Formats: sequence, structure tokens, C-alpha cells
Amino acid sequence: MTVPFNIFDTLPRDCWVNIDTAQLADNVRRLQAHIGRPVLVAIKANGYGHGYENAARAFLAGGARYLGVANYAEGFLLRQLGIAAPVLVLNGMMPNEMVLAAQAGLDFFVWRPDHIAALRQMPKTSTPVRAHIKVDTGMGRLGCFPEEVAQIGEALKSMPNVTIAGLATHFAIASIPDNEHTNGQIAKFDQAIASLAAIGIRPEIIHAANSSGALYHPRARYDMVRVGIVAYGVPPSAVVGPDIPEGVKTALTWHARVTSSKILPANSSVSYGCEYVMPKDARIGILPVGYADGYHRIPKNANSVLIEGQERKILGRINMDQCMVDLDGLPDITGAEAVLLGKQGGKEISVGELSRRWETNTYGVYVGISPRVPRRIVP
Ligand SMILES: Cc1ncc(COP(=O)(O)O)c(C=O)c1O
Repeated sequence: MTVPFNIFDTLPRDCWVNIDTAQLADNVRRLQAHIGRPVLVAIKANGYGHGYENAARAFLAGGARYLGVANYAEGFLLRQLGIAAPVLVLNGMMPNEMVLAAQAGLDFFVWRPDHIAALRQMPKTSTPVRAHIKVDTGMGRLGCFPEEVAQIGEALKSMPNVTIAGLATHFAIASIPDNEHTNGQIAKFDQAIASLAAIGIRPEIIHAANSSGALYHPRARYDMVRVGIVAYGVPPSAVVGPDIPEGVKTALTWHARVTSSKILPANSSVSYGCEYVMPKDARIGILPVGYADGYHRIPKNANSVLIEGQERKILGRINMDQCMVDLDGLPDITGAEAVLLGKQGGKEISVGELSRRWETNTYGVYVGISPRVPRRIVP
């Protein structure tokens, strides 16, 4: 028997994530209208935690022109799901992976002589290979230097089975509006565009901006923007910047049910390490969520959830698969729903709040939610 990759989404579990796919689609519609350019949406890392298929189908329904994945395997998964839309691999790949990506009809980045050599030796594909020249203008990651772009362009131009599908760069600090580094990156990118134009090359799609670039640096929108986090409804950074367009909202909430509950006597300890000691006789509840689900165990004592419309502390260490919550003063509410991320009773634990508690970023909260937590599409 072959088990579907997302089988957990279909099985019962008292810890789950709700995904509002209609909201994801609406986010893309609104962003495309606001930015005024076609949009590539990054659905790498399990659709930023929302599920590959949920995210891909919702964003395409909302009008996304391209999907972005990190590597060949993620792109292959989309093709297996029957998604025929243009897909760009955002990471660098070794030449052997490039061959597979080309055969799956995925666009990818090239910038090194060995990439050119790999393209020359590539087995013939039914349609031309779609290569995007990647230039490093100040991210210090993938790409050639701007002055090397023309040489790569010349080489690609001479290959009949290759289309120069794009010229791309990536920003390092675009979440700060009008900053010197990003302005410098844009200037170097313009230089790279000019150097290709000088030898008669106009790539199909010139693209540079991630979410923050697209929102805060209109000059960097070029032919297409590559958005990730803002398409999931989250502002790209906690740093001061204009708000995200009206109506663009988060679409993921995280829930668990109390699976057991009891009154513990004063002075009894709770959880591994016996670090939390009950100050009085009081009720605790057990939640079936732990660090294996992506619910962080550090820093200590940082966590709380919403139950019965109240914020309640997690007591003691988080375990791999469970944790204990303070239910002092409540009756036995076994079966009651706790909100780990989202709203209940007029209170909210937002993804920004969780990222601050866990000393990570909002991306880290979302992508950390393990695939074993079922994603349920809200009707
Ligand atoms: C090359 C590239 N473009 C675009 C994005 C989307 O970034 P963001 O989620 O900040 O919009 C990413 C994500 O890391 C990326 O690696």
C-alpha cells in the first residue's frame, strides 16, 4: 500500500490546525491588486506550514502566476498532485538535480559555469528548459556578481533548448523602507539588467522582490514579485513599515482538546524534571501537543493557551507529545477545546505573539508545525 504523503490530514487527532483556504486565495487577489504585478507565491516548507496542496491550490485560485518551491522534491510533489502551473525552484541545485527539475518542467536558477555545462549536456526535454539568471546584489547567498551576468547570458543565448526565463535577485533587508542597502541592491540589479540589454537580451521575467520588497519598495516590483509570508496574511517584519493591504489576513489557527483532567494536591510536581510545584490543590488538564508537533519547550514558562475564553498557563516542561495546563477553578472540562494560536472569547494568541515568546520569527512558528498535526480546511 502506498500511503498518501498527507495521510495525517485525514485521520482523527485531538490536536489540529485549521486552514482557511478561501482567505489565502483572497489574500493573493488583494496583493495582486495592491502591487499591480503578477505574483509568484512561495509554497515551500509545506506551504509555510499550511500544507503544500492547500496553499498551492488556494493561491492559484486567487490568481498566482507562479509557485515557488525550495528544491526539486517539492516541485515534483506539486507535479504529482497534478499541478501544471509554472513553478520556480528557489534554492540552488547541483547539476544532477537540475536535470530532474528540467524533466519535471520546473524553472530554476543558474549562475555558475558548471550550471552552463550541465545545461549543455542535459538530455533533450520536450519543451525548452526555463533558466533564470540569479544575481547576488547584496544578500550574500546565491548568484553571480552583477558584472558576470552578461557572460552567463551570452552562454544561455547560444543554447537552442534553453529559454532565458528570468533575471532575479533577492533582498537582504527590504523590511526597512528606503534603506541604503536595499537601494544599493536595486541599483546593482538595474546594472545587471542593463548589461544584458547591451547584448540584446531581455529575460522574460525580471523579478527581485520578496514580501517586504513588494510592499515597501515599489521601484523593486519589476515584472513580477515573489511573495511568501504576506500571502499567508502576516506582515513581513516586526520592524516599522506600512501596514499590509486591507483585508489581507492570517488563515491558520492551531487547536487541541483537553484529553484528561484532575485535581492535583498542593506540593505535587508537574512534568519531567519536577520543575513546577503546585502552590495549592488545583485542577490541571492534559493537552495532546508537544515539541514534536512544533510547540516549543523553550524558553521555560513562556506558554499559555486559551480555554473557556481565558488565558491559561502551561505548567512545567512541555513533553514531546503532551503538556499540562492550569485549569484552576474550572470543573472537569475533558474534551474542551484549547486555542494555541488564534482567537477565543475575545482574546487572541497571534503568530507574532508566539514568535516573540519562542524567540523566533513568524515564519519559524508556521513552518515548525509538524506535518503530523492534521491540517483541516475550514468550510
Ligand atoms: C528567493 C526567494 N524569494 C522569495 C521568498 C519569499 O520571501 P517572503 O516570505 O519574505 O516574502 C523567499 C523566501 O525565503 C525566497 O527565498
